[in-house]
Amino acid sequence: MTATHDPSSPAPAPARAHAIPSYLDPNNIGPYEIFLEQVERVTPYLGKLAFWVETLKRPKRILVVDIPVHLDDGSVAHFEGYRVQHNTSRGPAKGGVRFHQDVTLSEVMALSAWMTIKNAAVNLPYGGGKGGIRLDPRQYSTGELERITRRYTSEIGLIIGPDKDIPAPDVNTGPQTMAWMMDTYSMNVGRTATGVVTGKPVSLGGSLGRSDATGRGVFVTGAQAMQKLGLPMQGARIAVQGFGNVGEAAARIFHEHGARIVAIQDVTGTIHSEAGIDPAAALAHLRATGRIVGLPGSEEIAAADFWGVDCDVLIPAALEKQITLQNADRIRARLIVEGANGPTIPAADDLLADKGITVVPDVLANAGGVTVSYFEWVQDFSSFFWTEDEINQRLDRIMRDAFQSLWDVKERHGVTLRTAVYIVACTRVLEARALRGLYP
Ligand SMILES: NC(=O)c1ccc[n+]([C@@H]2O[C@H](COP(=O)([O-])OP(=O)(O)OC[C@H]3O[C@@H](n4cnc5c(N)ncnc54)[C@H](O)[C@@H]3O)[C@@H](O)[C@H]2O)c1
Repeated sequence: MTATHDPSSPAPAPARAHAIPSYLDPNNIGPYEIFLEQVERVTPYLGKLAFWVETLKRPKRILVVDIPVHLDDGSVAHFEGYRVQHNTSRGPAKGGVRFHQDVTLSEVMALSAWMTIKNAAVNLPYGGGKGGIRLDPRQYSTGELERITRRYTSEIGLIIGPDKDIPAPDVNTGPQTMAWMMDTYSMNVGRTATGVVTGKPVSLGGSLGRSDATGRGVFVTGAQAMQKLGLPMQGARIAVQGFGNVGEAAARIFHEHGARIVAIQDVTGTIHSEAGIDPAAALAHLRATGRIVGLPGSEEIAAADFWGVDCDVLIPAALEKQITLQNADRIRARLIVEGANGPTIPAADDLLADKGITVVPDVLANAGGVTVSYFEWVQDFSSFFWTEDEINQRLDRIMRDAFQSLWDVKERHGVTLRTAVYIVACTRVLEARALRGLYP
């Protein structure tokens, strides 16, 4: 008898080469699907190490926690929190904590996996981790956010630690969040453990240069890619999506080096100016009015038109899944430098490649943040702190060397820079896996 599909039940999941863990919906895998596809694409280049490739497809450890907190009005609210350790073959897990209303397990899994790739790509002695709390921080007071952060830290305290898993800031978290996390962890273990998180305030064992580090790395790798493409920095037109920690710093540093910021988009709106936007003025305006729109000398444009802005370099520095099949064909830039994690879906990546647009992938372009986090962790362990010049010089050298060697791999294999980064990073992770072997 032929089986027929009952139309009232969900459509069967498409056949896949890899098994989907039971805790993800096979019909709507979410951002982790992008990572799975990226792993599929790199597998043919892994040679004998492809034997171990399944270990990349499942995170090593996932912790889902309930965070009950007293709100200011006396009620109790419950929040969903996650910490995912994707891989620890090369060292402790490392990766940020995101506060956002749309955080899902799949998203945190993807972000943790990209940390594994990123840390291996720039050869930091870390695996990959990530955390998140599903909440819109704009809806809560500072006191409430502190209590949420502290309870979350206590809950994930089972698996984090300076030599186990080291969180850092991500979207909607920053130095104050890290200070609360460090204090909570320290209270629980009975000693001041500065090395448990990075991205702390400088007065609490944070590192000089950390707040600009991701944007600076976007600039360093972007500038190198521009050189390869023969794009002069002077007067280069740059469009930036996201004007937070990463986007603001990247815009400011490109501007300082003579480039022209022609468009900025954030969650509050989109502005455009052919003559160029001064990022410092844009930041002051945002702080004063709460919106990017209305900056003197700029015009507001529709959010969708951001992608069609005539520019040389496009920097997505907000959230994942921003460059899709809906907008990729409108993009006029010659170069995309991914400040955000996972901003381009794989199908759009192919379209960009077909159009001859070079992409410096997230796992390389935004690795400056974790690189200076690594410096912070090393400085905390040795209780010896470096000058900002030393930090920036070391950061620039690591980013430049990583870019050049990954560019060489791209040329050698005739692949995109993203695939080149995945070849190098997955090889490093799986080599470690193979050498360590399986326990027991
Ligand atoms: N902070 C770091 O050190 C770091 C390091 C590596 C990667 N990243 C990645 O960079 C990205 C940005 O992180 P951040 O730390 O700058 O966060 P942030 O919270 O400081 O800034 C986020 C920015 O994105 C904007 N934004 C949010 N939703 C948007 C939307 N729908 N459309 C347009 N703009 C929107 C916000 O208005 C804000 O300007 C994330 O993907 C993050 O994972 C951050």
